[in-house]
Amino acid sequence: MRTEIGTEVRLSEYKPPEYTIDAVDLTFELDHEASVVRAKLTVRRPAGTPLNTPLFLDGDSLTLVSINVNGDLIDEENITISPTGLILRNLPDAETFIVETAVRLEPSANTQLMGLYATNGNFCTQCEAEGFRRITFFPDRPDILSVYNVRIEGDAKDVPLLLSNGNKVDHGALDGGRHFAVWHDPHPKPSYLFALFAGNLGMIEDTFKTMSGRDVRLEIYVEHGKEARAAYAMDALKRSMTWDEERFGREYDLDIFMIVAVSDFNMGAMENKGLNIFNDKYVLADPVTATDQDYANIEAIIAHEYFHNWTGNRITCRDWFQLCLKEGLTVYRDHEFSADMRSRPVKRIAEVRALRAHQFPEDAGPLAHPVRPKSYMEINNFYTATVYEKGSELVRMLSIILGATGFKAGMDLYFHRHDGDAATIEDFLACFSEATGTDLTQFTNWYHYAGTPNLAVETDYDANAKTFTADITQTVRSGVKQPGDGPRHIPVVFGLIGPDGEALDYTSVDGAEVKDGCLHVRDARQTVTFHGVEREPVLSALRGFSAPVTRIPSLPHDEAQLLARHDSDPFNRWDALNTLLLRALTDATKNGINGATGVSEMAALLETIAADETLEPAYRALCLTVPGEAEIAREIGTNIDPDAVHAARRGMIKVLANQCADVFNKVYTATKPDVPFSPDAAQAGSRALRGVLLGYLAYRPDGLALAQDAYGAADNMTDRIGALTALVHANPDAQATLDALADFQNRFRREPVVLDKWLSLQATVPRHETLDSVRQLTRSQHFSWDNPNRVRALLGAFATGNPVAFNRADGEAYRFFCDAVARLDAKNPQVAARLMTAMRSWRELEPGRRERAKGALQALTSKRMSRDLSDIVSRTLDVA
Ligand code: TRP
Ligand code: ZN
Repeated sequence: MRTEIGTEVRLSEYKPPEYTIDAVDLTFELDHEASVVRAKLTVRRPAGTPLNTPLFLDGDSLTLVSINVNGDLIDEENITISPTGLILRNLPDAETFIVETAVRLEPSANTQLMGLYATNGNFCTQCEAEGFRRITFFPDRPDILSVYNVRIEGDAKDVPLLLSNGNKVDHGALDGGRHFAVWHDPHPKPSYLFALFAGNLGMIEDTFKTMSGRDVRLEIYVEHGKEARAAYAMDALKRSMTWDEERFGREYDLDIFMIVAVSDFNMGAMENKGLNIFNDKYVLADPVTATDQDYANIEAIIAHEYFHNWTGNRITCRDWFQLCLKEGLTVYRDHEFSADMRSRPVKRIAEVRALRAHQFPEDAGPLAHPVRPKSYMEINNFYTATVYEKGSELVRMLSIILGATGFKAGMDLYFHRHDGDAATIEDFLACFSEATGTDLTQFTNWYHYAGTPNLAVETDYDANAKTFTADITQTVRSGVKQPGDGPRHIPVVFGLIGPDGEALDYTSVDGAEVKDGCLHVRDARQTVTFHGVEREPVLSALRGFSAPVTRIPSLPHDEAQLLARHDSDPFNRWDALNTLLLRALTDATKNGINGATGVSEMAALLETIAADETLEPAYRALCLTVPGEAEIAREIGTNIDPDAVHAARRGMIKVLANQCADVFNKVYTATKPDVPFSPDAAQAGSRALRGVLLGYLAYRPDGLALAQDAYGAADNMTDRIGALTALVHANPDAQATLDALADFQNRFRREPVVLDKWLSLQATVPRHETLDSVRQLTRSQHFSWDNPNRVRALLGAFATGNPVAFNRADGEAYRFFCDAVARLDAKNPQVAARLMTAMRSWRELEPGRRERAKGALQALTSKRMSRDLSDIVSRTLDVA
């Protein structure tokens, strides 16, 4: 395999830095083709570092123009320039000395979007994780914290706006129509949090008074003319700031907080100190262009990046193995924020659906890794669902195990003790353990080992003795079993439910520690006995999804039925229903829809829920959502035939639509809104319910007209794209569908972010010919290989959202996709590598497809690949 150079980095080989950098003075002379970056580093040699120790400065794709140490030129023999950086020897015999460099860069040629790059004629940076070394020579590691002073010079007309971290301390005019600004950030920070933006944008501003009474200026920068679309993001920002004060006691620490929206960005957003840079799709929203999901994403991501100011920036990571220290914790914080802003149970269900859809398969496949990995080839490939989402679940479990008070005490100690530090997971856990006097040794297994534990629960009731026993076995699936991995501490929040849905009590329990409604599983096998149980109960376990585990076997049918009707825990009620649906769907995949059992019973249950006005509409919408094809495939596990899965699911939707037609129609009509649009959670919930119902009703004989009407009547993007999706899925060839698609394209032809929805929708039409439309769309004026949003909207949606077409039996789509990823890799390795993870589950396919998928992957290995892509491809192909 021909790949770029690279070696594996191991946690066990971590060494503290030999030199640190107290201060960084940067000067940017901006030019699209040839920018010059001058850096003056104040280098410190700590007491333990021997005099003759060389200084290594990372550098990637930099052209060195000049270098000196304490003002003196360096002799040839004292400098080595390699593809990964500079080595300097024979340094001054002093505690601190100055290294000055000048380098030349070409921002307009930077297609990786890491380092300093051009986007729509503006200049922008992205440094996490290792992008700063593409800007200047520097020890680019997160445990080196420095104070930054940044001078930016650029053309006054081209780039009127010159932004960096911290406070603007100077600005003025220069000769030749140029101008400058100087920014000073008083908070020492790691290089990955450096940011610069220079360009021409519009702005909205606001202020926020912090809990100690300081005024903070808030500025959000977006394309001219789109300022009004930034209002929701501003509102979300202010709510985030208030929430972090109230819930975590965390106050903002600079006089200004800026957000800049750019249209070319590798990920969602970046938490650079005082200057967050966002993918514009996570800033801009108005009713006409944004769905309710878009609004919710904006709220969550604005909060996430803002919360990083404490969890990530003030307390950062010692090394990249600790990534979950900031990401898992910050995801937990943004989840809690969204739960408080919206409906907690609805939010929780959405989180668990995402976890099961993305993290569980990652953890069960060739790309599985611990929440805190032990080694990596390319750190960019570890911004994963495991680090983020499972990382968040581990923090949530801590909060359950320690209780609200204990958790808060641990967090407070963490903020107090580690403010200003580059910390580790051990540091973090020690705070909880010390603040509460809890031994968390066993809990650390969750961080060190990959794989989703399984809980098998068998229960038995003895009516005479009035005892109820639960025999609980925990296992980690064999494929990912690692040496040293032992049983984990699994908090099982639970309730006992009687035959009429009533909560049942018990007098005492043995075999496990039980407190505050939580049963603490710690052993590989445990038998728990509840005494004094008056009637035969059903165990409602893992309420609120209290631990990220699977349950195989899943709930017995009658227990799932009871919980789906009566569980007072909304999460478990939904989960029981989902279990029943999945069971019927796997049955239908094996035996055909007519051979599936329990479908009428299912329909009756769904009707009841659809019409139950005591339940929030958003919750009803989730209950009525039929599990997706990928989820059904996962449930089946091996030898997947995606065509059979699709036929079963489609058949199920039609049967349910027919059996529930009256009720669904009635609720659909009754929930028609009569108030003006608002993006709030309540209205969004009603729209979600109507959308799900339309998704069913579209398959009815009068469905085409109904969806067509809905499209025509839509006054907001949620209804519009919902109706269009219903049209495309139920009647892809109808003239009305083609007309609606054309109307959508025409309406939003100047709005790339909106047309991404149009690209995605066409990429997910579930039939084999969709491959041809996707091929065609790559040549459309609305697509670009250079923009990550376009690529994800078309190719990402095709590979992850269209199992039928992507897994064509002839393997054509695998070949197309691998070629496309290789093409992309030449421009943007990070985005290419992430896209390729779509093929990680190839081993679960039936033998024919399995061979073709493997062949397409193997064909890549003879091509030149980036380190990012080759890392993913080789792990994906590796024997598990
Ligand atoms: N730290 C960012 C976040 O989670 C993630 C991120 C943004 C990122 N851009 C990136 C990670 C580029 C790697 C590369 O909020
Ligand atoms: Zn983050």
